[in-house]
Amino acid sequence: MNVPEVLGQHRLVPVIVLDDAAHAEPLAGALAAGGLPIAEVTLRTPAAVDAIARMAAHGGVLVGAGTVTTVAQVDAAVRAGARFVVSPGFSEPVVRRCQEHGVFALPGATTATEVMAALAADVTVLKFFPAGTSGGAAAVAALSAPFGQVSFVPTGGIDAASAGDYLAVPSVLAVGGSWMVPRKLVAAGDFARVTELVAESVAAVARPA
Ligand code: 3PG
Repeated sequence: MNVPEVLGQHRLVPVIVLDDAAHAEPLAGALAAGGLPIAEVTLRTPAAVDAIARMAAHGGVLVGAGTVTTVAQVDAAVRAGARFVVSPGFSEPVVRRCQEHGVFALPGATTATEVMAALAADVTVLKFFPAGTSGGAAAVAALSAPFGQVSFVPTGGIDAASAGDYLAVPSVLAVGGSWMVPRKLVAAGDFARVTELVAESVAAVARPA
């Protein structure tokens, strides 16, 4: 399964800030146990690249890098084993480098101009960030009207209660967020609680059988 297929299957992307790379393996286990074998590890801490490498070696989760803003970060993330690269905005050099590596790029966009720039770089799956303050689900729906070929992964200010509003928009592939992997819980090593939060979120977005 390719990355968009995995995102579309699970419909959630946990956005992770890890302070200690030693937490990477237990966190990967907690995500898998909760039914969400995906991790976007943000490059916001010195531990992030090592954490990506450890999660990739763990093997039970699809690991990507988040908050990637430079070509050098793309190289570091891919070397560590990231299978996808998420950026808060659209940078053509970042996207091109991902394409050179054959790694899935998920850049951010919230305007028609940004979507058009992404399309010109052959990107058709976009992070809609920051979703909550950029008009929410209604804005994603409106932006989708002229861009029928584009799928969105809204992220930023979303929680278990609002995820469904976004997922009800046909162009929304998945939603991202940190609510099911709170930094403090991870830092405290409370992986049992992380598994519970993940499982609750997975249940909340499950399609009716
Ligand atoms: C991101 O990088 O995608 C965001 O920081 C996640 O936003 P959230 O913490 O509001 O879920």
